[in-house]
Formats: sequence, structure tokens, C-alpha cells
Amino acid sequence: MHLLIPAAGSGKRMGSSSNKLLLEILGLPLLAWTIKAAEQSQQIEWVGIIGQAYDFDQFQNILDNLGFSKKYQLIQGGKTRQESVYRGLQSLPSNAKHVLIHDGARCLATPNLFDRCSEALASCSALIAAITVKDTIKVVDAQGFIAETPNREQLWAAQTPQGFSVDLLKHCHDKGLALGWEVTDDAALLEKCQIPVKIVQGEETNLKITTPVDLAIAQYILSERLG
Ligand code: C5P
Repeated sequence: MHLLIPAAGSGKRMGSSSNKLLLEILGLPLLAWTIKAAEQSQQIEWVGIIGQAYDFDQFQNILDNLGFSKKYQLIQGGKTRQESVYRGLQSLPSNAKHVLIHDGARCLATPNLFDRCSEALASCSALIAAITVKDTIKVVDAQGFIAETPNREQLWAAQTPQGFSVDLLKHCHDKGLALGWEVTDDAALLEKCQIPVKIVQGEETNLKITTPVDLAIAQYILSERLG
């Protein structure tokens, strides 16, 4: 299995002037925890890390210090996540049939989740990890009033990994680029192309580290895991 890790964002919502993935949790950069989980997956053999060129030295340091055994490649990212993944897809080795996309910011995903998503790609060509929502979700209008309360039983919070047949995902990204679609995850491109996307049970702890509170929760979960 080939894995692309979009890691070319900033730290704006974290209140950081640099890439939030370089902030440390328990002495290791956030991105190192993400890579460590991928490294422990039995299914993944190749990992493309998509970053901004100014972060490459630090990304390479992470790889050198942790001494990984899989094949790694650093790939130049873009201005948006969508553009970063698009560039990652162009850099996949030509023998890649399936790809998992996993946000670098989700540093708590377990190796088991990578393996379950990889295995599920044997029986479908597009999937995402997701979990049911716990809160009642409101749709709110521009004036700040509730417009709708969707039935909670049908609501799932999208996570990554998201897994696809490479040809299919490239086709949807190309179409999205040509038609000017702007999306925040890859599954949304397939939805717009009316291609079915399967749900794989995600993990409640698989948070996307976005704000300082997320960072504190991640530190707690990782220290519990380490005993
Ligand atoms: O900002 P947010 O956390 O939603 O971004 C999701 C993931 O996409 C992060 O891992 C981030 O590094 C990545 N990203 C990217 N290229 C961008 C913007 C975000 O690879 N231009």
C-alpha cells in the first residue's frame, strides 16, 4: 500500500507562526507520531510526505532520527490541502494501484486503522474512516439562526485515512481542478463525481490536531498509550 501524508499546512488555528506538525508532543514533533503509526502498519510499504520546501530539513531530521525501514519520499506541497494531495498523486510510483491519504495532523491514528483501511480497499475503490457524531448537529443560516437539525443517525464525522484506487482519485482530482471545485477532503471530490464511497469504522481518538486544546488531549492519549 502507498500512503500520502499531507503535511504542508500552517499553524494558524494553533496560534503558531510555523507548521503545527513541527510542534512537539512528549518530546517528538507531531508529524513523527503520525509517521511512527504508518511505520508500524503491516500493509504500508511506501510513504510520501507532502510538505513545504522550507520544512524539508526538519522533515528529513524526523526520518533520520527515528530510523525508519519503509521507503519515504518528500514531496512539494501546494497552497491548499487539495493542491497538496494533487501534487502527491503526481509523485506516486508508477506501480501504485491503491493509495491511502492521511493528514499529518491526525497523529493518533493507530497502525490497525491503516491496516483495516488498506484491507478494505480489496473490496471497494473508495473509502474513508469515519465515526458517528455524539453531538446534535445544527445547520445555521447566515443570520445566526438554526436552519435545520439533521437526523443524527445519518451523521458521521469524516476522518483520514481515506483510501482510493489511484486512477479513480487522479480522475476526480483532475475533474475538480478543471471545474474549480474546492473541497476539504478527497472523498468530497468522489461525491461530486457521484462515485460511491464506503465508510470504514474510524477511531474516537483519531483527532485532527487543530487547536492548543487538541494538542493537550493528544499528549494525554499518547502518554496513556505509553503507560
Ligand atoms: O489545516 P488542516 O489541519 O485542516 O489541514 C489538514 C492537513 O492538510 C494537515 O495535515 C495539513 O498539514 C495539510 N495541508 C497540506 N497543504 C496545505 C494545507 C494543509 O498538506 N496547503
